[in-house]
Amino acid sequence: MATSKLRKAARIILIGAPGVGKGTQTERLLQRFPQLAAISSGDLLRDNVRNKTPLGIQAEALMKRGALVPDSMILRLIRNALTTRGWLIPADGIQPITLNSMAASAELSGGADNDALGRDGYVTIPPELDMEYRYSEHPDASFILDGFPRNAVQATQLESMVPVNMAIHVHTPAEIIAERMSNRWVHPASGRVYNTTFHAPKVEGKDDVTGEPLIQRDDDKPEVWRSRLKTFEESSRGLLEHYESRGVLWKVQGNSSDEITPKLFAEFQRRFGL
Ligand SMILES: *[C@@H]1O[C@H](CO)[C@@H](O)[C@H](O)[C@H]1NC(C)=O
Ligand SMILES: *[C@@H]1O[C@H](CO)[C@@H](O)[C@H](O)[C@H]1NC(C)=O
Repeated sequence: MATSKLRKAARIILIGAPGVGKGTQTERLLQRFPQLAAISSGDLLRDNVRNKTPLGIQAEALMKRGALVPDSMILRLIRNALTTRGWLIPADGIQPITLNSMAASAELSGGADNDALGRDGYVTIPPELDMEYRYSEHPDASFILDGFPRNAVQATQLESMVPVNMAIHVHTPAEIIAERMSNRWVHPASGRVYNTTFHAPKVEGKDDVTGEPLIQRDDDKPEVWRSRLKTFEESSRGLLEHYESRGVLWKVQGNSSDEITPKLFAEFQRRFGL
């Protein structure tokens, strides 16, 4: 596939219902615009836990207690990811945080975090996040943020550090997503995916290769999906309003990923392309 270069930094998020194909659009954007990096809060969290960084250790302790990882920690994970790349530096001219100094500084602030852990188990925003940051406008400092922010409060917190400059609302009518989901069947052992409209198994309900029964993933089950959709609609309303008010919201509609991608590429190119 042809690739395109950017003329300025793109800092984007995709907002869309479960099953709308955000992952597909993200992958396609990354391929088409190689300067874009994918920054996933879930991946950052897993990496930090696996590598036993100070933040990872704190997060793991919380998760083991069944507590939520607070927004302030997710913000710090994102901040570390951006400062490590040199895309974000404290405005007062302190050295950008490097991997070596990260352990030391996280250790220093570790005590503060424990103090901030309120009786209700929620952590208040550490004062350092109120610090001002400078972010790079260089096209190489471009990213798609995944998993965060999910609501308007988180969006405001992120903005105090680095502003999203394009929020893409990916929309497909709910009935169409529902139908797509209900048509999707998988063979759990091999991961082979069938959909009964375009790529039906030769024998209904059976894997073509092994003849074993096909199942529906929990996330694809209509009742599970409906409840996730409801949660999404409730939490995203404020998020959409937030980005609308900042003038960075753009909505793209289509019945399929293939219908959405060309519209998305064209608008993205218009806003950020060279
Ligand atoms: C069904 O599968 C085909 C082939 O993998 C794919 O092109 C199509 O988009 C799928 N349709 C749905 C509704 O998932
Ligand atoms: C999308 O789906 C709706 C509902 O099925 C249909 O009315 C509409 O024509 C479709 N749009 C396109 C571009 O295929």
